[in-house]
Amino acid sequence: MNATVARPAPPPPDTSEIDLLGRHAKPSQIVKALDQYVIGQDEAKKTISVAVYSHFKKIAKSERDGIPIVKSNVLLIGPSGTGKTLTCATLSRIVDVPFVTAEATSLAQTRFVNEEIDAILQRLIDKAGGDIARAQHGIVFIDEIDKLKAPDAKAHSASGESVQHALLKIMEGSQVKVAAGLYIDTTNILFICGGAFVGLDEIMSQTHGFGFIATSDDENKKILDRLNTRVKPTDLFTYGLIPEFTGRLPIIARFRDLTREMLVRIMTEPKDSIYSQFREIFANEGVELAVERKVFEQISELAIEYKTGARSLRGLFEELITPILFVVPDHPEIGKVLIGSLFTDPKLVGRG
Ligand SMILES: Nc1ncnc2c1ncn2[C@@H]1O[C@H](COP(=O)(O)OP(=O)(O)OP(=O)(O)O)[C@@H](O)[C@H]1O
Ligand SMILES: [Mg+2]
Repeated sequence: MNATVARPAPPPPDTSEIDLLGRHAKPSQIVKALDQYVIGQDEAKKTISVAVYSHFKKIAKSERDGIPIVKSNVLLIGPSGTGKTLTCATLSRIVDVPFVTAEATSLAQTRFVNEEIDAILQRLIDKAGGDIARAQHGIVFIDEIDKLKAPDAKAHSASGESVQHALLKIMEGSQVKVAAGLYIDTTNILFICGGAFVGLDEIMSQTHGFGFIATSDDENKKILDRLNTRVKPTDLFTYGLIPEFTGRLPIIARFRDLTREMLVRIMTEPKDSIYSQFREIFANEGVELAVERKVFEQISELAIEYKTGARSLRGLFEELITPILFVVPDHPEIGKVLIGSLFTDPKLVGRG
């Protein structure tokens, strides 16, 4: 399809209905709330929900007993566009704590890593409306952590390794000065790191040798499979992260490639799905938009070819819709738009 007219700006996601469960949410409640926005990735959702649940439990206990917590930061591994950032952002809304994201690569491009890190924490405070106590219970998501491989040192920029060291300090918990006389304590901030870690599976297949235990039993086989798919700290070390850093990320959740079926669901199922957003835009014109399942399947096929996870879905869908949305407002007699395929013209039905 040829869309030459300007695209409508995507409507902001509808977050008004999100279940604000607060910090005392149970893991199962968190997963249920995540399910409304994040399709699939069940294993990762469970791992993250339990991590967040126990994180806030530990904080509560430490505030009761006055003993500092031993934090378990989280590492999310998975291909681009499969929902890592979306999951963290949604999660922080569910548990109602301030949330910021940062990219490890931009930390590695500056000579002033510590200033950049201070800026991240300052953003967290801003998100908390200036309330430092609230910011100290926030979540910081640092993406592209896999790009911090140790030997990647470049002149005039921080090496991946020095960025890892700088991050270690705040992940461990430290007092960071954000403004004159103003400090933020990072002890209770949950750090979630993310990365695609391309090539990790190869490393794992070379280093994982649990297969030698002879087993005929199905259950044992399952346990072996689990052990073999589990990412070990040594795998991350082989990948290029320093041991101290992998040691601070004891919880690992893996995001899987999205299947065609999941891509179709992403466009149609979440509360703020692309389809429901555009149906609403048409509804505002008094027009019903009906897109057949086949269209979503065709878009998913293209998205899989583009290898950007779910990222290209919106663009592809908008390319389909834009020419129609260009015409519809000029024709009040149109009551319904039916799209049956990417490769046939949409049917414009008059008001009955
Ligand atoms: N599992 C999913 N369920 C619903 N939507 C998804 C899912 N995965 C991706 N999306 C859609 O794709 C967009 C991009 O996903 P997201 O930003 O979470 O990717 P990512 O895994 O963080 O990728 P990257 O590694 O490139 O940062 C999201 O804003 C969302 O619209
Ligand atoms: Mg991301």
